[in-house]
Amino acid sequence: MRALTVIPGKANSAAVVEMPEPPASDGPILVRTLAVGVCGTDAEIVSGQYGWPPRGEERLILGHESLGEVEAAPAGSGFSAGDRVVGIVRRPDPVPCIACGIGEWDMCRNGRYTERGIKERHGYASERFRIEPDFLVKLAPGLDALGVLLEPASVVAKAWEHIERIGRRARWEPATVLVTGAGPIGLLAALLGRQRGLDVHVLDRVTEGPKPQLVRNLGGTYHSGPMAGIGIHPDIVVECTGAASLVMDATLQLAADGIVCLAGVSSGGRRISVDVGMLNRDMVLDNNVMFGTVNANLRHYQAAAEALAKADQAWLGRLISRREPLGRWQRALTRQPDDIKVVIDFTL
Ligand code: BGC
Repeated sequence: MRALTVIPGKANSAAVVEMPEPPASDGPILVRTLAVGVCGTDAEIVSGQYGWPPRGEERLILGHESLGEVEAAPAGSGFSAGDRVVGIVRRPDPVPCIACGIGEWDMCRNGRYTERGIKERHGYASERFRIEPDFLVKLAPGLDALGVLLEPASVVAKAWEHIERIGRRARWEPATVLVTGAGPIGLLAALLGRQRGLDVHVLDRVTEGPKPQLVRNLGGTYHSGPMAGIGIHPDIVVECTGAASLVMDATLQLAADGIVCLAGVSSGGRRISVDVGMLNRDMVLDNNVMFGTVNANLRHYQAAAEALAKADQAWLGRLISRREPLGRWQRALTRQPDDIKVVIDFTL
């Protein structure tokens, strides 16, 4: 079968190659791939900066944002042929640690977790894949092609769950959220913020293209330019860019008892000068919290599926800015100015 693969650690090694059919050891459910979303992590893997192949292999099949249709499933598995499904990315570490032991592999404590399409396990960017029923999520009918947004939405659902759990440390009635970055993660974070009845502000560099209108159509306010100029003191910041200066500015703008959620991965190596004493003073005197979040467990995929099901489907559809066939994977991995979420469509 054809699969989009890469030699992790080696730039320019991505290629569509013939790979063996998925092994039975991957799980009893056989899924036909319909689409795979492309994200910044894939770009990092393709550029040789991230990613690990399965043990004993050279190539890694890419793709962790999946959408497929069950081709065959054993009786009693909870799945049957024709189901629309999304595969979970992470698998627990083999120890397992206390987090993985209770199904919270997103909080793995020893780093020995694996991730499909990223870390030591083949991903979903192949014509077919096999999977275990416990790591497969069935989509409600109606979500159709938009189901490919479930994985990024799960990451956002986890971020919101943790914000709310941290918020419960004291009496707290947040009113305003600032989302930095209007990519897929930022826009989905804004959607979930609106679904919570919050006053949503989104800050991004661009002034044109679809992003400002997408934010306004959600009932949010779009900003570009420096953070200090936007004139709000949010209760919550969901930082989705990983840009060092935004991380700092966000913290200094925060309201008392506020929470900064870091959901973007920085590229590292970019230095900015920071007055740590001032940051400390600000955070202590205002009871502020800054925390990082990555990945998602089954509970978050379920919360994300609910959030997507109740969202305006036409709005969600506008997040998918391009669909490319597998044969044009290079175009899919090359950013274009108005891109939001680019999808490799296996049905084209
Ligand atoms: C994926 C997560 C994963 C993270 C780190 C992200 O792009 O959405 O599932 O845990 O990369 O590998």
